[in-house]
Amino acid sequence: MEAAPQRVASQGDITAEIAALAVEAAEYQRLGRQEFQPRLDYPPYRSSVLRHPEFPPLTVDPDEIERWAPCFGHQDVAPGDADLTAGHPGEPIGERIIVTGRVLDEFGRPVTGQLVEIWQANASGRYHHQLDQHPAPLDPNFIGAGRCLTGPDGSYRFLTIKPGPYPWRNHFNAWRPAHIHFSLFGTAFTQRLVTQMYFPGDPLFELDPIASSIVDPVARQRLVAEYDHDLTQPEYATGYRWNIVLSGGRRTWTEGADDG
Ligand SMILES: [Fe+2]
Repeated sequence: MEAAPQRVASQGDITAEIAALAVEAAEYQRLGRQEFQPRLDYPPYRSSVLRHPEFPPLTVDPDEIERWAPCFGHQDVAPGDADLTAGHPGEPIGERIIVTGRVLDEFGRPVTGQLVEIWQANASGRYHHQLDQHPAPLDPNFIGAGRCLTGPDGSYRFLTIKPGPYPWRNHFNAWRPAHIHFSLFGTAFTQRLVTQMYFPGDPLFELDPIASSIVDPVARQRLVAEYDHDLTQPEYATGYRWNIVLSGGRRTWTEGADDG
């Protein structure tokens, strides 16, 4: 007998599931459980149901990983790499934005010399990538990838184009809120952290099961940049500020924790 075809979830279904899990998470929080990281097993994020990690990461020899892990180009990071609007014959289409902030450790100290990489869709919500074939135009003047090193105060700064929202197939009529992907390299590939920055006031943010998989609303809000009018440049670009705080994973090894 053939299995009945499974109905594709609507946004209403997903929103109801997100709401139910938020109520449950708030109750856990009331009982003292803190959840600042995304839940790996988060059913409204349908496309991750069969592929989320179920076991803790394996501990591996970092030197061994470095022999075959990807590296990001053969050239040093150049100042122009932080300007995603440059390097093409013309200006990209869209709202020019400045995105800046500081990378800090859990004690508020700046993390200097840190490789920060970003990638994003263009103003129409389309990635310059073979797998993105949805019918929005590519921009010949925009690739959507950039990088820089943090300065002595832990600051980074990019000039780019505000990305558009884009459809994905998690459920029927699913749209990702506008976002920029961020990678922080650490001091070795095994320390790399990847996250996403969102924009304030985006109506799609609360509908999004990826953002909502961070069930603590305060922690989730930390992924949303602030509009900063002092950063905005007249006749040129609007400004967004977003600080990244690294906790736990960058702590210094301490004697007694691992000697033996
Ligand atoms: Fe994305």
